[in-house]
Amino acid sequence: MKTVVILDFGAQYSQLIARRVREAGYYCEIVPYDRPWKDSLALDPAALVLSGGPESTLAEGAPTCDAAVFASGLPMLGICYGMQLIAREVGAELVSGGAPEYGPATLRVLDPSHPLLAGVPEQSRVWMSHGDSVQRLPGDFTPLAATPRCSIAAIGSKKRRMVGVQFHPEVVHTEYGKQLIENFLREVAKITPNWAMDSFLESSVAEIRERVGGRRVICALSGGVDSAVAATLVARAIGEQLTCIFVDHGLLRKNEAKEVLAAFRDVLHLNVIHVDAAERFLAKLAGVEDPERKRILIGHEFIAIFEEEAAKLPDVGYLVQGTLYPDVIESKTPQSKAGHKIKSHHNVGGLPEHMNFALVEPLRALFKDEVRALGRVLGLPEHIVARQPFPGPGLAVRIIGAIDEERLEIVREADAIVREEIERTALDPHPWQYFAVLTPVKSVGVMGDGRTYANLVAVRAIVSEDGMTADWARLPHDLLARISTRIVNEVPGVNRIAYDITSKPPATVEWE
Ligand code: XMP
Repeated sequence: MKTVVILDFGAQYSQLIARRVREAGYYCEIVPYDRPWKDSLALDPAALVLSGGPESTLAEGAPTCDAAVFASGLPMLGICYGMQLIAREVGAELVSGGAPEYGPATLRVLDPSHPLLAGVPEQSRVWMSHGDSVQRLPGDFTPLAATPRCSIAAIGSKKRRMVGVQFHPEVVHTEYGKQLIENFLREVAKITPNWAMDSFLESSVAEIRERVGGRRVICALSGGVDSAVAATLVARAIGEQLTCIFVDHGLLRKNEAKEVLAAFRDVLHLNVIHVDAAERFLAKLAGVEDPERKRILIGHEFIAIFEEEAAKLPDVGYLVQGTLYPDVIESKTPQSKAGHKIKSHHNVGGLPEHMNFALVEPLRALFKDEVRALGRVLGLPEHIVARQPFPGPGLAVRIIGAIDEERLEIVREADAIVREEIERTALDPHPWQYFAVLTPVKSVGVMGDGRTYANLVAVRAIVSEDGMTADWARLPHDLLARISTRIVNEVPGVNRIAYDITSKPPATVEWE
């Protein structure tokens, strides 16, 4: 398939560029900036986007791409660092650190007739983040737009299909960013849209059928959107040959196991083995307080049970995994820092390599929002498609300290109230995630005429784009009041509620 190739120079926003290109209806992939161009030819490149990056093009050893990229003659959009690279390549004059600009700026269009700026008003807001600037352009290039501190904020060539913008069109803070990216693809590169979920569905079904042949395929379901969409897609391709295994660890939310099972069996008609393993997990977790230990125990137990169940099925050839595109992007930051491990993630996408099955990963090319769109095309119920993120280890990481049946019941009931109250209130923006946490703190209260000494429940609601960073949601006070009153009245063992007002960073979304 024709691909828009995004060369990643270590930008914070490369994935956002890719999402915008896909939203505009074009298939794209992200490749590391220094990949030899001949290795990218297999992608059938139709156009190129050079991303931003943390370096200065003027620095010694500044990251640069294979010279063959420029020689390819393909239409090219440079963003921030990418624009500077184009400018450097064509012999423009660059200056370092002259007028750095970070944050919002007003863009003034200088050449409204250029196709890159079609539909962009004379003035609009853009998001800047740069230290270097382009000072003078060679003859066949012209400045297309400027900001008060940057006289050349967009460039275009009269001879080649080459354009660049100093600002970031991929972020929402750039008012006409989406339009600019579309203009590049449609008006400058003049390529034909080739990416839509219904055609993706069709080609995936054919591919899965061809790959799997007559063998049996298994899939672990978690109730989460990725495994649900992956399973439904595979079932669409091979029907009865797919067996799903739903390992119910007993750490799901109120009624969730029942609802998930009903959706899978009755609505989607999937072949599901339900393993009620709540007791097994609770026994493993008894007395365990350390968050990492909990995560690791749950991950191991999950895999053990899945393997036991899989071993009971004859002739299994393939395992479905809900791996997504962000997990497979080969990223290479020019100055990569090894990250510290904050939490061991457990999810159904990560079953062990030692299981001797070939993998079917039908979502490998997709971003999360595309998985949701595909789920809708497949007819998945909205409560599964729009489900808020939920950690693999479930409520175990929302009970601080040791877990037992009684504490699970408290957090489950409190969580159900938080969800119900937030979901029945019109909020803008709607929080991205919201839940209750059972703390190990007890405090004194008074109910009726009696003294109580009972549990403290914390309520967490966040706004976020992707869970990587988050801010606490400014929920209306009367909504918080309703949540607090209901939990204290309806959940035995709770006499006090606190609202978590920390952003991420420095906190994380989950408490453990
Ligand atoms: P943290 O707590 O790391 O959470 O700020 C970021 C997002 O990830 C979710 N989360 C998980 N998701 N397996 C998952 O699939 C896990 O083990 C896990 N732990 C946290 C969390 O709910 C939030 O949306």
